[in-house]
Amino acid sequence: MEALDVKNVTHRFGTFTALSEVSLKISPGDFTVLLGLNGAGKTTLYSLITRLYNNKSGSIKIYGFNVREESSDALKNIGVVFQQPTLDLDLSVIENLNYHSALHGMPRNQAQEKIKQEVQRIGLIDCINKKIRSLSGGQRRRIEIARSLLHSPKLLLLDEPTVGLDIDSRQMILSHVKNLCKKENLAVLWATHLVDEIDKGEKVIIIDKGKVVKTGKVDDILKNTKSKNIRQSFNKLVKINR
Ligand SMILES: Nc1ncnc2c1ncn2[C@@H]1O[C@H](COP(=O)(O)OP(=O)(O)OP(=O)(O)O)[C@@H](O)[C@H]1O
Ligand SMILES: [Mg+2]
Repeated sequence: MEALDVKNVTHRFGTFTALSEVSLKISPGDFTVLLGLNGAGKTTLYSLITRLYNNKSGSIKIYGFNVREESSDALKNIGVVFQQPTLDLDLSVIENLNYHSALHGMPRNQAQEKIKQEVQRIGLIDCINKKIRSLSGGQRRRIEIARSLLHSPKLLLLDEPTVGLDIDSRQMILSHVKNLCKKENLAVLWATHLVDEIDKGEKVIIIDKGKVVKTGKVDDILKNTKSKNIRQSFNKLVKINR
């Protein structure tokens, strides 16, 4: 069973086509990078998967549930870290996370346990009573990742989670999420425009101007595009389209 199965999804804003016949699949345990420049359509795709926008064409299934017809069964499996920060700056870490767990209908005791576990795992247990406003950008991002995992989703969508962070914070977040794929069979779609976040052997979906231009493991993409590294492949593939 695929964690995420997107088939022939097109999305228009008025007369502008932001996504055109997009298809992709992600299996449980996969760490998949969605690579595309600004305006490629990454956030639009996430908005359709999470049902912020209604998908009018094609189909989107999460662990077999269609987001259009079986929304609540589909959506309860997803955790999301949005491109724009969404924590309440004037509330503490624990207050922000309590709010999220309540939204998901988690019983209070169970929620407290899980909040502590996730905040501990991401290395910020000492900050649990601090206001978000007093945390650094990297710490806030880590709290958003902890929050996205509270309801134990099986598919995690992250939209440019490391933008603006220093190398150490980026590395920490990246390895935390990759670990979850390996250890907990979590399926991850990681949207970025940064080719240096891609390791050998990983699966990459390259999107440009609303179209998937290449999908595959890094090694296969390199062979296929006769390139030395993924940056070169990306430049070749994206140039073809311009
Ligand atoms: N609400 C909207 N109304 C009209 N056009 C939109 C809207 N949202 C996005 N677009 C357009 O759709 C295209 C895809 O935008 P999207 O935000 O999905 O790209 P992205 O890959 O997430 O880019 P970035 O890396 O800058 O976040 C862009 O050309 C953008 O201008
Ligand atoms: Mg975006």
